[in-house]
Amino acid sequence: MDYPKNSLLLMLLCTAFLSNYNSGGFVDAATNIGLNYGLLGDNLPPPSEVINLYKSLSITNIRIFDTNTDVLNAFRGNRDIGLMVGVKNQDLEALSVSEEAVNTWIVTNIEPYLADVNITFITVGNEIIPGKIGSYVLPVMKSLTNIVKSRNLPILIKSRNLPILISTTVAMTNLGQSYPPSAGDFTPQAREQLTPVLKFLSQTSTPILVNIYPYFAYAADSVNIHLDYATFNTDAVVVQDGPLSYSNMFDVIFDAFVWAMEKEGVKDLPMVVTETGWPSAGNGNLTTPDIASIYNGNFVKHVESGKGTPKRPNNSIHGFLFATFNENQKPAGTEQNFGLYYPTDMKPIYKLF
Ligand SMILES: *[C@@H]1O[C@H](CO)[C@@H](O)[C@H](O)[C@H]1NC(C)=O
Ligand SMILES: *[C@@H]1O[C@H](CO)[C@@H](O)[C@H](O)[C@H]1NC(C)=O
Ligand SMILES: *[C@@H]1O[C@H](CO)[C@@H](O)[C@H](O)[C@H]1NC(C)=O
Repeated sequence: MDYPKNSLLLMLLCTAFLSNYNSGGFVDAATNIGLNYGLLGDNLPPPSEVINLYKSLSITNIRIFDTNTDVLNAFRGNRDIGLMVGVKNQDLEALSVSEEAVNTWIVTNIEPYLADVNITFITVGNEIIPGKIGSYVLPVMKSLTNIVKSRNLPILIKSRNLPILISTTVAMTNLGQSYPPSAGDFTPQAREQLTPVLKFLSQTSTPILVNIYPYFAYAADSVNIHLDYATFNTDAVVVQDGPLSYSNMFDVIFDAFVWAMEKEGVKDLPMVVTETGWPSAGNGNLTTPDIASIYNGNFVKHVESGKGTPKRPNNSIHGFLFATFNENQKPAGTEQNFGLYYPTDMKPIYKLF
């Protein structure tokens, strides 16, 4: 079958429409699946009930988008759950000015919780690179990294030997070429803003965090792109790229990013997928609970198979599904319908776990 070369590009453009305020996280060896916990709803359950839901699902990696006090307080004592927190996009400019500003941010937003909240990651902004304020990301990352290292944070959680990892979450709009995967490269703006970040992360092998949404490519060209290819629902080879065979779009996008990093001289940098998902409503018959269940269910299976992607067959994927709840304060349409659960009664929208 022939898949149009420009459909990935369309998808890349479309991811930019996702709200700048999403959620993601870090995953452990027992399960590499985490969940995003977004807060853009006026009908969401209290955080303590949400944590009980995560426990009932044995989910041990959660991503929130900021350092919300109510949520962090509710996580106190639940140290087995690793929590990825975020520096808000709108705070980046002020924080980029000095290490003192970043230190104050840590003292205010992180330190009060370190005794009993298992903060694994701090993400510096969400989908900020490439963009107008993309150049603020690296200085903030450097300050955070210096402070966490020099003060040996977290110092308070016993039996924890991992430092808090500092990274940033980027969208696939950084890719210029993305098809076939071996042609993957970054746009000029991405080379300017992202490449120095990747080189900085490489020094400590800290993962770059990526948001990957095959849904948007499919929605942009559902006539030519096969649904089974977009939803990991076929074993047939759809894209042959030299010796590498691809049967799903997720792996194609992931590996295009890997190739693009290699072209910048960045090899073997780990990638964690901070967001992926499929809406269950908002765009006619392309967004049904059945299709969302197939995509997300197959993503979980792909991750749990431990198989990695064709280019990185020996690296299992770590990924966070987007998102826990439908959020009614996001833009109308599909954006409000990425949730796995209804916020009002916490019932599943479709069967997944
Ligand atoms: C913190 O979370 C990480 C990631 O889930 C996990 O590997 C680690 O064991 C947790 N730490 C504690 C003290 O439970
Ligand atoms: C959606 O409906 C159109 C028109 O009936 C049909 O051609 C298409 O195959 C449907 N797509 C899916 C994913 O069901
Ligand atoms: C994956 O591991 C196998 C077995 O150790 C090795 O032969 C192969 O070269 C590795 N592949 C890559 C891409 O690193």
